[in-house]
Amino acid sequence: MNHDETIQKTITFVKDTLAEAEGGHDWWHISRVWSLAKLILEDEKADRLVVELGALLHDIADSKFHGGNEDVGPEKAIVFLESLDVDTEVISHVENIIRHVSFKGGNHEQAFRSPELDLVQDADRIDAIGAIGIARTFNYGGFIGAKLYDPDIPAKLNMSKEEYKKNIDPTINHFYEKLLLLKDRMNTTAGKTIAEKRHEYMEEFLNQFYREWNGEV
Ligand code: ADP
Ligand code: NI
Repeated sequence: MNHDETIQKTITFVKDTLAEAEGGHDWWHISRVWSLAKLILEDEKADRLVVELGALLHDIADSKFHGGNEDVGPEKAIVFLESLDVDTEVISHVENIIRHVSFKGGNHEQAFRSPELDLVQDADRIDAIGAIGIARTFNYGGFIGAKLYDPDIPAKLNMSKEEYKKNIDPTINHFYEKLLLLKDRMNTTAGKTIAEKRHEYMEEFLNQFYREWNGEV
């Protein structure tokens, strides 16, 4: 099967798999991450097929929505890619990308690295910040029943992976626990440049949010 056919079949599989997904983790998140990954790839040396498959398959079964089980996504991806007769080396690399792309509080050692993972991770992180990042974060907060903001509940830095995953603190706290930290964790030069712009936009948003919260017009 050629590159384009493999990608087309993967798109169909991902759209089907994510048909019922929460708005911030649906096909359109995948589509944006895939586009961003291809954009960054123009400036980086990495295997195109691994990057595209990694971006397309990175969230097919996020553990947050599968009772914390981190094996569902990688296992589904392996079965799917084997059905397309993709090379075993590519499959195993894509599996590693799916297993290691996630932030989860960011306070743990990342056990696998490659230029392809660096790139997919940057694309995923860029989609977590800026205007889209703000929209996704409030959508997720609503989905889990979190408050918008509560000045009496401080943000928690240095959460363990387990604490991070079950945290339902106010959505504004998530900016301090993750979103504002991402610009300093980008792997690629192109990723850093995009992240800085989106970071500034989030800071403006927060300033305006507090102004309005405090009764300014
Ligand atoms: P990662 O896969 O990098 O660990 P997550 O799946 O945890 O990232 O988060 C993806 C997006 O979901 C976040 O960027 C954010 O928009 C939203 N999200 C995750 N956890 C929370 C939370 N506790 N409160 C609000 N939004 C959240
Ligand atoms: Ni993602």
